[in-house]
Amino acid sequence: MIETVAHLDTLRARIAGWKRAGLRVGFVPTMGNLHAGHFSLVGLARQSADRVVASVFVNPTQFGPNEDFARYPRTPEADAAGLQAAGCDLLWLPSVETMYPFGVEATVRVHVPGVSEVLEGAHRPGHFDGVATVVARLFNQVQPDVAAFGRKDYQQLAVIRYLVRDLAFPIELLAGETRRESDGLALSSRNQYLSPEERAQAPELHATLEGLREAILAGTPRAAAEASAAERLAGRGFAVDYLAVRRPDLDEPPDRGHGRRVALAAARLGRTRLIDNLEFDIG
Ligand code: PAF
Repeated sequence: MIETVAHLDTLRARIAGWKRAGLRVGFVPTMGNLHAGHFSLVGLARQSADRVVASVFVNPTQFGPNEDFARYPRTPEADAAGLQAAGCDLLWLPSVETMYPFGVEATVRVHVPGVSEVLEGAHRPGHFDGVATVVARLFNQVQPDVAAFGRKDYQQLAVIRYLVRDLAFPIELLAGETRRESDGLALSSRNQYLSPEERAQAPELHATLEGLREAILAGTPRAAAEASAAERLAGRGFAVDYLAVRRPDLDEPPDRGHGRRVALAAARLGRTRLIDNLEFDIG
């Protein structure tokens, strides 16, 4: 069975041993309840590293007071088995006390300005502070050479890129493609909250982003295309938090023009909040 480590001294000893032997260490941070998307990140990290560490930590500081921290699915045994099958070498499973020795209220917080505050950040105030805070800690604990994150959390990846550059972490970031069900729904641990009816509606989020991309490529002005895509989602039972076309740095692009774009959306079906995005080029 995969080695599971819960003490920081043991983790540091393992990693120091690998580094002494000249091995490159890859890292996949997660909150557990792992699916094929996470396992593909292990594979991606493995391509650039000799040893791969995955962490499972449901991070309290990135959940808002009315969010799903308490009910977030925790499946440690299945996670360990899946990681082993995916070729992961070590599972880092810290407790809240190990992660936040002074408690979650008294922790040193990391705030990434700008990119943390728009879209997802505007709807989940403090969320990216929690992400940046825990990822900075995980990077200090694991000290990887490379770390893999999914493109599904597009804005999170942008926050982490900024963090790595600004705090000079000597870590190469890898971005894994979004894995989808056959009907287009992006894999997410939160999909299991969906009722059967909601699950049947959920692929509409991806389909709407595809429609938005087509409208922009056909020359529809951005604001009009965003508004009609949001209307389409609302008409299919979603409560839309945001739906926007942005530049890769998440700044607003001109209404018309060339270059890379990303369409991003967050919308709720009942009590479940889904996010997704689609990158494309305007030639
Ligand atoms: O993407 C996630 O699962 C989490 O936000 C992360 C990066 C593991 C930090 O808790």
